[in-house]
Amino acid sequence: MDSISQIKQVLNIVDVVGSYVSLKKSGRNYKGLCPFHTDHNPSFMVSQELQIYKCFVCNDGGDIFKFVQKIEGIDFSTALEQLAERAGVKLEKTDFDPLTQTKKKIVLINELTAKFYHYLLVEHASGKVGLEYLKNQRGLKDETIKDWQLGFAPDTFDTLKRFLLKHGYTEQELLESGVISQSYNGTIDKFRGRIIFPFTGIDGKILGFNGRTIFNKDPKYLNTAETPVFHKSSFIYGLDKARVNIKKEGVVLVEGQMDVISAHQGGICNVVAATGTALTEGQLTLLSRYTTEITFCFDSDSAGSAAVYRAVDMAEKMNFNIKVSIIPKPYKDLDELVKNDLVHAKDTFNNAMPAYDFFLLDALKKNDKHTALGKKVIIDELTPLFSKLSNVVLLEHYAKKVANELDLAEETVLSLFKKTTTTPPSFESRSDDRFKEEAHNIAKIDYKTHPEGYLIALLFKANIDIQRDIAYKLHAEDFENSVLLSIYNSYLEYLQKDTKSFNIKSVEKSLSDEEKELVEELYLWDLDGRFDLENTEKLASELESTLKRIKKDAAKTTLKELTEKIKLAELGNDFEQVEKLSKKVERLKKLLI
Ligand code: CTP
Ligand code: MN
Repeated sequence: MDSISQIKQVLNIVDVVGSYVSLKKSGRNYKGLCPFHTDHNPSFMVSQELQIYKCFVCNDGGDIFKFVQKIEGIDFSTALEQLAERAGVKLEKTDFDPLTQTKKKIVLINELTAKFYHYLLVEHASGKVGLEYLKNQRGLKDETIKDWQLGFAPDTFDTLKRFLLKHGYTEQELLESGVISQSYNGTIDKFRGRIIFPFTGIDGKILGFNGRTIFNKDPKYLNTAETPVFHKSSFIYGLDKARVNIKKEGVVLVEGQMDVISAHQGGICNVVAATGTALTEGQLTLLSRYTTEITFCFDSDSAGSAAVYRAVDMAEKMNFNIKVSIIPKPYKDLDELVKNDLVHAKDTFNNAMPAYDFFLLDALKKNDKHTALGKKVIIDELTPLFSKLSNVVLLEHYAKKVANELDLAEETVLSLFKKTTTTPPSFESRSDDRFKEEAHNIAKIDYKTHPEGYLIALLFKANIDIQRDIAYKLHAEDFENSVLLSIYNSYLEYLQKDTKSFNIKSVEKSLSDEEKELVEELYLWDLDGRFDLENTEKLASELESTLKRIKKDAAKTTLKELTEKIKLAELGNDFEQVEKLSKKVERLKKLLI
């Protein structure tokens, strides 16, 4: 047996998923809130029998490997390693691909580099200047320096390179990991004369680095370029340390890594940063795995810039609850605030304002609300922002607030905000492909448009006696959908065997991949909420009435066909045929009453 099957035999998807998502039993399956999108009603289903999961809203689904890959943000081979360890399965050499080997090597180089620079900083004479800078100028404690594994890269050309070559790595490998770079006459250490901040991933592996100059060189901060293990657009600094607190308290996103370190040193431990890049969707997706509550903490000089509005807009589209806090003057950033006034720093987050209050405050700051022109500009700025509010109470609340500030009539402001009110996001108005796909997916098994699919989904929830009772009453001509018909035929064959209890895996055995996919969807379809699944009588009566509806639909279709045929027979003066068909029509009509 290969390692993958071995792991699947040992680990149960319900336990693995259950360690990230709280699951509740629902009929034969388990359900919970989907960790991959902001889910308010549980639409995430897990099947013990099939060892798969599926979200009926964001359409994500798969096996234990796919789940771990996605939730941990790791590739297949890393997931394989993690799960093998958890299952106590030893991996064969052939389970590794060359890319994994490269990545592993880069991580080893990074880890050795971090150790080396840390050693230079805290123990070696050449790092003294860096240590003094961190302790005296930046107020960091020894413990903090150790926790964050900060380091120092001396202002020399090849100290690190020589060290790593001696450890058996090749120049090519060092280039690939980004710790040295190509210069006009050979390769040199990338970081020189800088404090080193290792970039640690959520699994504790060091993915890359950022270095701050202590000699006023340009650029002030320098970070690792893209490598096979470091992708800055999906990296969040401090997440490895903050994630547990983020789950409890929500996340505070700041601008720089010194702000993160100071905050943690001061005991504010849910702070992270998007370093070296404007906030990206990938970074927000990563955060959304841990929380829906986000507070943007902006330096007083940057708050109000277009980047801030972009960040808020992006987070809003991803359904975060957003607050904004601005570093109070005279402090420049969180780092300064924490060091000078820790109590006030904590208050800043406790009193963070909703994004809409921030919009208003910022507009008032930039314009003179006492002049007619000022009022117009403020309203022009706020209208597109506030018209996004779909909640009437919130809309009125802010209309009132704006009206008061500008000394305008509340109705005027409200009507302006309402005029351009956009509809809340729905499947139709979300234009990207993923959402189209979701809508398609839901339509595919909608019980109104596909009663046959609904019936099969219901049957899968019932005990085998009821299954047999209902399924035998259904006939090939009742089906409109050919895939469902073919599924039904295999299912019927299964039911005709002398099995005592229902087993979905046996049903699946004779199915094609396409049919299998649909069966899994039907099996996982959560009908809880539509009615009580444990109530056998209710289930049986829902089955009966669905069966009736299908029969009626089929009769209607036949009726239409017969009417067409009668018309044709009349045209051909075939009265015998007309009479025969008319009798059939009469019988069918009785059935439809
Ligand atoms: N940054 C960067 N490249 C630069 C400047 C900044 O990658 N040339 C990133 C760094 O991650 C930095 C963050 O942007 O931490 C914020 O930059 P800035 O506000 O200029 O620095 P501070 O964090 O205040 O740094 P310090 O307190 O060390 O001066
Ligand atoms: Mn700073």
